[in-house]
Amino acid sequence: MVEILSPAEVSRARDTGALVADILRTARSRTTVGTNLLDIDQWAQAMIQEAGAQSCYVDYAPSFGRGPFGHYICTGVNDAVLHGLPHDYALADGDLLTLDLAVSLGGVAADAAISFIVGESRPPESVAMIRATERALSAGIAAAGPGARTGDISHAIGAVLSAEGYPINTEFGGHGIGSTMHQDPHVANTGRRGRGYKLRPGLMLALEPWVMADTAELVTDPDGWTLRSATGCRTAHSEHTIAITHDGAEIITLPR
Ligand code: MF3
Ligand code: CO
Repeated sequence: MVEILSPAEVSRARDTGALVADILRTARSRTTVGTNLLDIDQWAQAMIQEAGAQSCYVDYAPSFGRGPFGHYICTGVNDAVLHGLPHDYALADGDLLTLDLAVSLGGVAADAAISFIVGESRPPESVAMIRATERALSAGIAAAGPGARTGDISHAIGAVLSAEGYPINTEFGGHGIGSTMHQDPHVANTGRRGRGYKLRPGLMLALEPWVMADTAELVTDPDGWTLRSATGCRTAHSEHTIAITHDGAEIITLPR
């Protein structure tokens, strides 16, 4: 089902989005060489609870995971790109870390993800891959607005990722979001202009370009959740929640 939010609900979504962005920013700034993924999960849990918000993850048990998730944030290291289950691992210099967080506040959910490099080293391929997902996300947001279609967003995202030479997986992509984290419509990371669902004010979407350096194939980790690149190559992911407005799209997951 596609949900259209009222102006009051979109206004509450801004609070949720700011919280998600603040938690991601804080977690990023605290993360150093030696930080354990389980520490990051505890920080997220504490910040969610302190804000009086609810985790969209902890009890989540969809068909694509061995539910419930049981943690508060997704932590993907290097070849782990989606649904990274936090586990006992201390980050090393140069690790490419993806944090993905969705929470609900005042009955409205928001979802965002960032990738960054831990420590001081800056492996050029990792830097390029992260930048490609960020640029694809910006292009997707720019293509969104009333009257545009999901295919316009998918096309814009896919054009950036393909131009940078990344294969694109279409099993997982963006999605509607509102009273719950995952809703229709699906927004694939590649597609055709003019196709798909027509956007209108009050629709919220999570757009999430993600890539793997040299493959489009995922494998599931023995933990039953974490999705890794089939070749073991590095991966990156950038996500924002946006709201369609009367004249464009507003990014909901921005820090205040
Ligand atoms: N937030 C993720 C997304 O971008 C979904 C994570 S599901 C989880 O759609 F169960 F792994 F947490
Ligand atoms: Co999402």
